[in-house]
Amino acid sequence: MKLAPRIATAVSLTIVLSAGVAFAIGPIETRKATMKEIGGAFGGVLVKMVKGEKPWNAAEAKAAYDTIVAKANSIDVATMFPKGSESGGETAASPKIWSDPAGFQAALDKFRAVLPGQAEAVGKDVAGLKSAIAEIGKTCKGCHDGYRIEKM
Ligand code: HEC
Repeated sequence: MKLAPRIATAVSLTIVLSAGVAFAIGPIETRKATMKEIGGAFGGVLVKMVKGEKPWNAAEAKAAYDTIVAKANSIDVATMFPKGSESGGETAASPKIWSDPAGFQAALDKFRAVLPGQAEAVGKDVAGLKSAIAEIGKTCKGCHDGYRIEKM
């Protein structure tokens, strides 16, 4: 009889904790997977082609570029960076995302805005691709510098 209230407390605590964790891990995993795909297309394909570590191929360059565009457009701040997802998983997102949401949104808008103008250069030749990744890369860095932290 004495144990009953304790068990009840333990059970409700567990429910609260698991609900909190489930809430936090979903968006963190989603945004990290999205960034990984962007990074794979950018660093794993486009940068390698420019460096000569991968043979130049217009169709492959365009496909990687299209992945970046699609993933950039899939970023939804409200669902991928909801309040409460600042921690609780292995996130490298900076608390600044939540203290300066307008700045974060502006960095995302810049990234998306630079992409359409680079489409032609990406598929043209290595020189075109080189200038395109420089332009796109500035906007990756522009966001990471302010809104991503080094992993602990
Ligand atoms: C609007 C902001 C923003 C832009 C633009 C942006 N990123 Fe990110 N990126 C982030 C944030 C925030 C994280 C950390 C996410 C986390 O750990 O929860 C991240 C994480 C990453 C990661 C690590 C993913 C992992 O394995 O956890 C890679 C790789 C990456 N970004 C590549 C890029 C590349 C390449 C570009 C440009 C083509 C880019 N990002 C543009 C905000 C941005």
